[in-house]
Amino acid sequence: MKAMRQPVIAGNWKMYMTIAESLDFARALKPLVVASTGCEIVVAPPFTAIKAVSDRLEGSNVEVAAQDVASEPGPGAFTGEVSASMIRDAGAKWVIIGHSERRQYYGESDESVNGKIHASIAVGLLPIVCVGERLEERNAGRAEQIVDAQLSGGLRNLTESEASRIIIAYEPIWAIGTGQTATPETAQQMHAFIRLRIKAIFGGPIADKTRILYGGSVKPDNILALMNQADIDGALVGGASLEADSFARIVNYKQSD
Ligand code: PGA
Repeated sequence: MKAMRQPVIAGNWKMYMTIAESLDFARALKPLVVASTGCEIVVAPPFTAIKAVSDRLEGSNVEVAAQDVASEPGPGAFTGEVSASMIRDAGAKWVIIGHSERRQYYGESDESVNGKIHASIAVGLLPIVCVGERLEERNAGRAEQIVDAQLSGGLRNLTESEASRIIIAYEPIWAIGTGQTATPETAQQMHAFIRLRIKAIFGGPIADKTRILYGGSVKPDNILALMNQADIDGALVGGASLEADSFARIVNYKQSD
């Protein structure tokens, strides 16, 4: 089953990188991954650099994501928001939705995640939908319950064909930016659970095809062990995606040890 799922390695730049820095990164990354055919490669610059990075990467094997999107399709009077069609217009093909930092600091709810997914799919953007539990929730034995609620709320009212375009990123909050990666076994356990839940909601064929990425302190030296797990189909990388060299080593995980 895993063989039929093309891995995705995505870099989430968060609130880092000016336009000039983004272009330097794109220039440095391209030759390092030009021969990487084993996975889809995605970078998520801040909104301000999406257009420049997309232009610079045009025709390469690296695609661009936004880090968030408005839930209103627009156009309309929504000051500060950026619509899915504007993101397409700037050259991105993907969008990260429901990252834990958006949930924690900006009040992102499963309901708004759901709206953002619908708005994105309507214009052909591929959503990377983030889920994950806090440390105290895991310690209380509630990790699966939390992720289950995020999935059923976030993925509400999608047709099978819409659901087939979605990528899930499991990012335990205690592993993000802490250097404390989930062990491959812990991650695998949750990924298998997520696939089961997708099967329950959308059926077996969609569950088998859905890419489930792991995120949380992914580095060049732990990616291979994570990717060797049956239900881990890629990674969403924060800190280690900010240097072209370390991001390329993660993308090229099969070549390095
Ligand atoms: P990290 O971030 O790799 O720096 O832990 C991951 C993320 O927030 O997507």
